[in-house]
Amino acid sequence: MESTTAPVKPQFSEAAKAEIDRICKQYPEERRKSAMLPVLHIAQAEFGGWVAPEVQDLVAEVLGVKPIEVYEVSTFYTMFNLKPVGKHVLEICRTGPCQLRGSDELTLELERITGAKVGGEPSADGLFTLKEVECLAACGFAPVVQVREKYYEQLDTEESVNAMLSELRNMVHRPALPWEEKGLPNAVANN
Ligand code: FES
Repeated sequence: MESTTAPVKPQFSEAAKAEIDRICKQYPEERRKSAMLPVLHIAQAEFGGWVAPEVQDLVAEVLGVKPIEVYEVSTFYTMFNLKPVGKHVLEICRTGPCQLRGSDELTLELERITGAKVGGEPSADGLFTLKEVECLAACGFAPVVQVREKYYEQLDTEESVNAMLSELRNMVHRPALPWEEKGLPNAVANN
């Protein structure tokens, strides 16, 4: 039997709307599209760490552009997640200096400990998603992993890897972003 429940259209929280307004005011009205990257970041933070198609449609609506224009951007930049992610997205640098300092081994170790696969589904406990990315611009501290705004550096020992994972496991709430207050209703899945 077909479901009669209408899909719920995502909505930005009031705090996010206020921040989007503030950002868009920095551009002429006919150039709202220029705010697409920060608005996509806000959308990703609001809706569980990824931008579902309906969330991208909402971004298009807010910016007054066609959905395809948002899809073009969201699929180009690796920082936008196009499918559900774990509570923490570990972006593992795989560029030369990090590779020379053991990022391949680090990746295998993180896969082994978390049970997640790079580029694949989140870990079974929903805590971790593993992604490989290019240079994080902290080459002198290789190998490096970025988790949101924080860098974990010199992850070349068992102790350093365990300390990072332990800190992330014990994190009850993610750090608040500059524009938001703790406890945004739409961000629950990502806390
Ligand atoms: S190569 Fe990894 S931070 Fe630059």
